[in-house]
Amino acid sequence: MFRICVFASGRGSNLRAIWQSISDRSLNIEINCVVSDKAECGALEFAGQKGIKTLSVSRKELPGFVSYSFLIDEFRRNKIDLIVLAGFLKKIPDEFVDAFPEKIINIHPALLPFFGGKGMYGMNVHKAVFESGMKISGVTVHFVDKIYDHGKIIAQRCVDISAAGTAEEIAEKVLKVEHSLLPFVIEKFADDKVKIKENRVYIT
Ligand code: GRF
Repeated sequence: MFRICVFASGRGSNLRAIWQSISDRSLNIEINCVVSDKAECGALEFAGQKGIKTLSVSRKELPGFVSYSFLIDEFRRNKIDLIVLAGFLKKIPDEFVDAFPEKIINIHPALLPFFGGKGMYGMNVHKAVFESGMKISGVTVHFVDKIYDHGKIIAQRCVDISAAGTAEEIAEKVLKVEHSLLPFVIEKFADDKVKIKENRVYIT
C-alpha cells in the first residue's frame, strides 16, 4: 500500500479528485490523513465524509492541533510515502521539508517558474496571468523545497487560454487540468516511476 497525506486549506476539489481516481481505479493508494490550517473547509468536510483522519497545524486553537514535529514522528511511524500539498496556504517549515526530502509535492495553478512565489496563490495567480496577456497557462506539480514554488518541476500541462475573457474563466479551465494531473503524478510515484537526475525529474 502506498500511503499519502494531503495538506489543504480550501474547498478541497483536488483532494476529491485524488480520492475519486483512487476509488474509480481501485489503486493501491491510501489517503492516510488530511492536514489543514483551517477550522472548517471543504477539504476537511470531505475527509470527514469519507472517514479519513484529519489533523490541524499552524494554529493552536484548532481542534486536533498538532505540531510539525509531532507530524514528522507520526508520518515516519505510519510510513507515509508522499505528502501532497493541494491548496495548502501556509509555508511548510524548514524542519519538515528537511525531514522528507523529495517526498513533499505541491500543485500550482500556472506554469512555474512564472507566476509563482509568495502571495501567488488562488485567484492572484489567475489575475496575474490574465493581466499579462499570455495565451497559455497551465498546471505545475513540483517538489517542495524551502522557497515558495521553487522545487524541482515534476510535471506540467499547458492550458489554452487564448479565448478566456476573465481570470475566473482561466481558473476554471486550469482547475479541470489540475484534477487529472495531480492524481496522475501520485499514481506515478506509487508505481515508482518518478526519477530524479540532477536537476530534472523524469516520469518513466
Ligand atoms: C488549486 O488551484 C491549487 O492549484 C492551488 O490551490 C487551489 C486549491 O483548490 N494550490 P482546491 O482546494 O483543491 O479546490
